[in-house]
Formats: sequence, C-alpha cells, structure tokens
Amino acid sequence: MELIFDKTTNSLEESKLIAKEIFNQINLQDVVVLNGNLGTGKTTLIKFICELYKIYNSTSPSFSIVNEYEGDAKVFHFDFYRIKKVEEIYDIGFEDYLNYEESIIFIEWGNLFPEILPKNHFEIQLELNSDNTRIIKFIKHN
Ligand SMILES: Nc1ncnc2c1ncn2[C@@H]1O[C@H](COP(=O)(O)OP(=O)(O)O)[C@@H](O)[C@H]1O
Ligand SMILES: [Mg+2]
Repeated sequence: MELIFDKTTNSLEESKLIAKEIFNQINLQDVVVLNGNLGTGKTTLIKFICELYKIYNSTSPSFSIVNEYEGDAKVFHFDFYRIKKVEEIYDIGFEDYLNYEESIIFIEWGNLFPEILPKNHFEIQLELNSDNTRIIKFIKHN
C-alpha cells in the first residue's frame, strides 16, 4: 500500500483540483474505492472526476447500487451503503463489471465488503473536520 497524497480541501473548487490529480493517476480497468462517512463528499468527488471524462449526469447510486455512464470512458459507479449481503452485489453482475475491459469503476462504501475488492485498487479516504474542511487521502493498494 502506497500513500499517493494526503490533502485538505476547504471548498468545492479545491476538491475539483484534487479530482483532477486523481483523474491524472487513474486509467481504464482501474477500481477506485471511496471510503468515508455520509456527507464527507464521496459522490461529489466522483462527480468532479466524471466531468473530466465529459460525463455530466452522474448521481448517487445508493438506491440503484450501480449507475453506468458513458463519456470519454465508460464509468461504473457503485454504492454499497444499502447492501446487506454480498450476494446482492454478485446478483447484479459485479464480476461482469470487473471484467468489462474498457471502464473505470468507482465504489462508494467499498470498505463494507472488502472481501470482494480486487487486490489491486485505489482507495480514497475522506474525512470531514469540525471546521468543515475535508481530508482526502489517495492510496494505491497492490
Ligand atoms: N469540498 C467540499 N466543500 C464543500 N462542500 C462539499 C465538499 N464536498 C462535498 N460537499 C458537500 O457535502 C454534501 C455531501 O456530499 P456528498 O458528495 O453527497 O457526500 P457522500 O457521498 O460522501 O455522502 C453535499 O452537499 C456536497 O455539496
Ligand atoms: Mg454518496
């Protein structure tokens, strides 16, 4: 595991710059897991990264489990928050999404089911401080 960066953001604009740095480090086939409590900014950060792929319609998939977007890349956006059993993730074809060749996968709340994450993946840890600043850590697991 390698810490790529550890940054503090004070605003949506600063988070956009962090999104750009993440965008520059990821490629097709990558899995990017976002871990952090409700309201820390997982969906927002994914939205900013998606915009860099010219995807402007990303939304929180908490009810649908997965959203699919198409821009300069195909993006699959998962949210495991409401999932109770790992079977639910397999039932919607998680393996097929992982094997899909030309896509980026984002997973909010991936830490709820660590056993199904591929060994190689990126992790973004988000924390909200009491002064409303946010810590964003970008980590590579391999
Ligand atoms: N860097 C930021 N600065 C200010 N507000 C932010 C920032 N990131 C997210 N927010 C706000 O926090 C709220 C929750 O963000 P969201 O991305 O939905 O969190 P999560 O997906 O982690 O639950 C939203 O209103 C969003 O606009
Ligand atoms: Mg969210």
